[in-house]
Amino acid sequence: MPGVKIHAAAHYAPPKIVTNDEISTWVDTSDEWIMQRTGISQRHMSQGQNTSDLSIKVATQLLEKTGLSPETIDLILVATVTPDYLSPSVSCMVQGAIGATNAIAMDVNGACTGFVYGLSVAHKYLASGACRHVMLIGAEVLSKYVDWTDRNTCILFGDGAGGVVLSAGDNFYGEKLHARGAMPITMAYQPVVNPFCPGEKSAEASQLKVDGREVFEFAVKSVSENIDELLAATGLTLDDIRYIIPHQANRRIVEGISKKLKADMSKFFVNIQNYGNTSSASIPIALSEMLTAGLVGAGDKIIMSGFGGGLTWGSVLMTV
Ligand SMILES: CC(C)(COP(=O)(O)OP(=O)(O)OC[C@H]1O[C@@H](n2cnc3c(N)ncnc32)[C@H](O)[C@@H]1OP(=O)(O)O)[C@@H](O)C(=O)NCCC(=O)NCCS
Repeated sequence: MPGVKIHAAAHYAPPKIVTNDEISTWVDTSDEWIMQRTGISQRHMSQGQNTSDLSIKVATQLLEKTGLSPETIDLILVATVTPDYLSPSVSCMVQGAIGATNAIAMDVNGACTGFVYGLSVAHKYLASGACRHVMLIGAEVLSKYVDWTDRNTCILFGDGAGGVVLSAGDNFYGEKLHARGAMPITMAYQPVVNPFCPGEKSAEASQLKVDGREVFEFAVKSVSENIDELLAATGLTLDDIRYIIPHQANRRIVEGISKKLKADMSKFFVNIQNYGNTSSASIPIALSEMLTAGLVGAGDKIIMSGFGGGLTWGSVLMTV
């Protein structure tokens, strides 16, 4: 399979930081409980910025870093479950804002697997020769949907965005993606209320609900099996992999995956302490931080693994 080259990565998080201690002032929790059960110490929160605003910040940085003119971008993909509108898509808003006049644009809803699903879509457009440059962004303002009175969920999530510019290349590329329709994580839109379907709109109906324990068990089992099947399909072993970048939902989930794979935790990149769970944005934020810090470089093989609502899960193995 032809590969995908990463030209540049960038990320952005809103400046407002909310610590565990701050959350403890409005729900019955503590820094100790949150750190112990999740590994999260703080998260970034939007104060009025929407998902398109975060995405445009990343897109602008990506153009600066690559030196590409906006007209040379052929496809813009934004992975998100928190778009500003049902229409226009966030990707169209980015296209307009950066003047990528030749790009088509679409959003990808794969929940916390969104960036990995987006990589797969980007890969197909690049491998077929239909596109030269794809801009792929994962962006979320989850704070719009969090129930801030529910201590089971409000401690988990944060806002942020990250992205990459990709082109076709000789780099190694492999993927294994999955979906299974099930409802342990839901974010409902407001119910329809009209003359044919009377009722009342309630704010509660559109809030994020998570069966934490079920998701935890699903994540550890599915991701470890998924990485195993991807390695088997590509004929590689964990020794060939410089880093695994898992979706950042809970440090203990990553520890569970590392135990099941019999791989040392040093093989996994974890930055959940600073961001919480940013859904589609967590993997590109991590990738951008790793490239900036020089933790991965040209020629290194990495695995990016997402899992989340849908249910969806999947991994991409590629050379940086
Ligand atoms: C949510 C999660 C952190 C809970 O951790 P856990 O170890 O499974 O904890 P439990 O659900 O067993 O709850 C244990 C107790 O802590 C309590 N608790 C829950 N949230 C709490 C909080 N913020 N502070 C203090 N206590 C809390 C519960 O009420 C429960 O109390 P009880 O035993 O008296 O009923 C964990 O299951 C998780 O991270 N799941 C994945 C969720 C996720 O990321 N989903 C997004 C999609 S990727």
